[in-house]
Amino acid sequence: MIILGIETSCDETSAAVVRDGRVESNIVSSQRCHSAFGGVVPELASREHERLIVSITDSAVTEANITKNELDVIAATAGPGLIGAVMVGLCFAQGLAYALGKPFVPVNHIEAHIFSPFINEGETHHAPEGSFVSLTVSGGHTMLSVVAKDLTYEVIGRTLDDAAGEAFDKTGKMLGLPYPAGPEIDKLAEKGDPGFHKFPRALTSQSQTSKSYLGNFDFSFSGLKTSVLTWLQKQTPEFIELHLPDIAASIQWAIVSVLVEKTIVAARSRGIKSVSIAGGVSANSGLRKAMKEACDRNGITLYIPGTVYSTDNAAMIATLAGVKLSRGMTAERSYNISPYASFAAGGRKAGLK
Ligand code: KG4
Ligand code: ZN
Repeated sequence: MIILGIETSCDETSAAVVRDGRVESNIVSSQRCHSAFGGVVPELASREHERLIVSITDSAVTEANITKNELDVIAATAGPGLIGAVMVGLCFAQGLAYALGKPFVPVNHIEAHIFSPFINEGETHHAPEGSFVSLTVSGGHTMLSVVAKDLTYEVIGRTLDDAAGEAFDKTGKMLGLPYPAGPEIDKLAEKGDPGFHKFPRALTSQSQTSKSYLGNFDFSFSGLKTSVLTWLQKQTPEFIELHLPDIAASIQWAIVSVLVEKTIVAARSRGIKSVSIAGGVSANSGLRKAMKEACDRNGITLYIPGTVYSTDNAAMIATLAGVKLSRGMTAERSYNISPYASFAAGGRKAGLK
């Protein structure tokens, strides 16, 4: 089965071809037009997707050595994401499916991230035999879920305010770094001291306010943002410039240590021996290293997507569409487009059937 996937939920325009579960092409174009604004401008994102979607799709099809008529299924992200941006890819994909007379499959972007560690590009990356705890961390989402063998998942925690990627981007902006600041902080942090300044860690064993942090798998990063801002206001520009790597490393550690602690406590409390991290922030080298060390200490196997599949990409959309179809889900003629994640924290089961 040959599936074309389309992804346009935020600031990456992407198309990919997956044949029998294996990636044949994955073209990703990251929009640069937002860097001057310190964040993604939704209207600009939609226009840029509109400008690129046809040529990116052509490249994906050409690189896979097929013609459009050979496609069996067209899949696209139907949310969550910036609604105008989602609609560009979705309408294009649905129009293409209609013109070619092929079935169309809408895909949930977060579900696709959850399964991105198991994308197959030659080597097979099997999902764990039993349940696994998934930490999905991106610019718009921070979610901890327990994924069962039947691929249904239970959301056990999510952010109460900012997403982890947003915490990187917004604190990085305060340091004068360009958008997206996550990768910039990552690079700077490599040369810095994470113990240089201790920024707060909400809802963890390190927080002063929460005594019942154990079993609370929600996250909160807005306090960190305020704390970085007020601390920076007390420093001179010379001091900040001199210690930029140390400050970046301290911010990164404040975010990463919370993500690692909550994920490991979740896995241990459920007796689960497999953990995965996915989404743009899973590209962070500090998170990858700290999570690997914590998993090794606890006898847990860690699953991480290749760096290209950490950030937004269409290979994960086509892959998940294939998994859904192989499990008997049929293409839908009617579905809801949503800017929001359509699942709630607190034990609700969702996902693939
Ligand atoms: O998954 P993604 O590409 O898009 C969304 O669905 O949001 O994630 C983008 C986010 C941005 O906030 C970006 O700063 C962050 O992922 N990110 C990183 C790194 N690479 C991307 N954050 C920290 N370290 C990185 N290396
Ligand atoms: Zn994403």
